[in-house]
Amino acid sequence: MKQISLRGRAYPSDLNHSGTVFGGWIMAKMDKAASIAVEDIVNSGAVTISVTDLHFLKPIRNGDIVTIYTEIIKVGNTSIQINVNVMVRCKQSHEEYSVTNAIFTFVTLNEDRKPINVRDVIRDDINDYVKELL
Ligand SMILES: CC(C)(COP(=O)(O)OP(=O)(O)OC[C@H]1O[C@@H](n2cnc3c(N)ncnc32)[C@H](O)[C@@H]1OP(=O)(O)O)[C@@H](O)C(=O)NCCC(=O)NCCS
Repeated sequence: MKQISLRGRAYPSDLNHSGTVFGGWIMAKMDKAASIAVEDIVNSGAVTISVTDLHFLKPIRNGDIVTIYTEIIKVGNTSIQINVNVMVRCKQSHEEYSVTNAIFTFVTLNEDRKPINVRDVIRDDINDYVKELL
């Protein structure tokens, strides 16, 4: 189930010399959005272990409003995969179009920062969609 994990606007300090947003700016925001999606379903710490299938589809420009959607797509033993999709709202029509997407994998950690089984730290209030992935 897709949800909004982060929203914001691109400002001049976020732009490269060509006038579009730095890739690293949006990657950092995607990582934060994915971490929020993970925190929504577990009550332990978690860290990013990999990012795959990262695609910059369209540029983000000064003033663009950016919405980052996340969707938990797989729960392993100690890992959680999240599909992260960044959308920009068209200023005229207000329709959203996709600008960047990637798959993030997080590992849930115990207090000693060792991987811990996701099912041992899953929150009680997860929705039915996530329950089906367990
Ligand atoms: C996260 C960390 C504690 C995992 O330790 P580890 O001993 O490598 O863990 P494991 O080999 O048991 O793997 C843990 C899980 O990650 C998965 N995994 C390992 N490498 C992976 C990779 N390259 N891509 C995707 N998943 C991966 C494993 O399949 C396993 O998942 P599962 O339990 O659901 O099957 C350790 O790698 C670490 O601290 N990495 C740095 C994390 C970090 O600082 N991130 C911030 C970015 S700067």
